[in-house]
Amino acid sequence: MTAVEPFDAVDVIRAKRDGGTVPEDALRWMVDAYTRGYVADAQMASFAMAVLLNGMERDEIRVMTSAMIASGERMSFAGLGKTTVDKHSTGGVGDKITLPLAPLVAAFGVAVPQLSGRGLGHTGGTLDKLESIPGWRAALSNEELFAQLEGVGAVICAAGSGLAPADKKLYALRDVTGTVEAIPLIASSIMSKKIAEGTGALVLDVKFGSGAFMRDVDKARELARTMVALGTDSGVATTALLTDMNTPLGLAIGNANEVRESVEVLAGGGPADIVELTVALAREMLSLAGQPDADVEEALQDGHAMDAWRQMIRAQDGDPDAALPAPRETHTVVADADGVVSRMDALPFGVAAWRLGAGRARAEDPVVHAAGIDLHVKPGERVAAGQPVFTLLADDGNRFARALDALDGAWEIGAEAPASTPLVLERITA
Ligand code: URA
Repeated sequence: MTAVEPFDAVDVIRAKRDGGTVPEDALRWMVDAYTRGYVADAQMASFAMAVLLNGMERDEIRVMTSAMIASGERMSFAGLGKTTVDKHSTGGVGDKITLPLAPLVAAFGVAVPQLSGRGLGHTGGTLDKLESIPGWRAALSNEELFAQLEGVGAVICAAGSGLAPADKKLYALRDVTGTVEAIPLIASSIMSKKIAEGTGALVLDVKFGSGAFMRDVDKARELARTMVALGTDSGVATTALLTDMNTPLGLAIGNANEVRESVEVLAGGGPADIVELTVALAREMLSLAGQPDADVEEALQDGHAMDAWRQMIRAQDGDPDAALPAPRETHTVVADADGVVSRMDALPFGVAAWRLGAGRARAEDPVVHAAGIDLHVKPGERVAAGQPVFTLLADDGNRFARALDALDGAWEIGAEAPASTPLVLERITA
């Protein structure tokens, strides 16, 4: 005998379609029945569209998130004896901040379980970047993850497929039904995975601008506020920084070159914007971990963060001293006039790096670790005619033409420096 279902999907859809609030038990059932395959894709797509058009109450978003967490395994670091703090970025171009950040925070005795993904589209994936390091291994068992958190403190590894499977199914559906942009659905998607991961506290880097998932700053702020409320309601101390993603972060866009730049930061150097964001996020994470006065800049200068990085890479079978893959072909673009770089638009640079092989179009595609773009100057810097502006890196020179197409009109040299805008626009707390 088949079990009798307690609700009808059509009633749940109608309630949301008409601007109502879906009762907790009905919403929980909807997510569970969709994951089981009882609620059809067409019904869930219709519900997602109703959410996109009519929104959700704070409590509905909490229930939706909790139902997605309940669809899979939930990890717990309660037995660790260390505070755990995680960071999540909504993704951007040249965003390698996790790489220096995790060991930097771990250098203060805090555990940083950074369960990450691979890149799809123009934003790179943290695991793809780290896999440029010879021998480094993304897949860890739960036992290895715990042991590394206990010892080294920092772990960046692949998130298991058992976390929030409902989200996996729903995200794929949203992708093909024009419903990715619904803020309640983005917030519950991201936060269900982060909460299921079992972190004690969470800092969100919510990006706005051309290279970000949310271009519009008001939408990004709304997303940040929604996620901070959601984390707080779920018992995870959560804060967010709203950060500018109109210009690529740092000078390296790709995989191996982003690792190289991260190591420069850990050695006390590196581009100013990468250092600024790494320090700002580390301060947030350490505040949540009860260390608001930690001197994070000093830990970058005195080698403590670098020591944690080397231990973290070695613990996952990587060789921190091995040479990183180098591209077979390069193509340098030079300035055609004297002036100041007035603009470098993040999205086309991300697309160009992707076309060079640094990213993937389908989840199963491999990435070319040496591919990407090295910038030689950033907006606000002066250049002379003939001076290199950026270099394209690839294993196959046939890729240069399409990358250059993407970059057509993406950067400018003018007479005056652009107005300076803050990298960290706002801090959002509960
Ligand atoms: N990233 C996610 O994990 N989920 C979304 O819905 C959007 C971005």
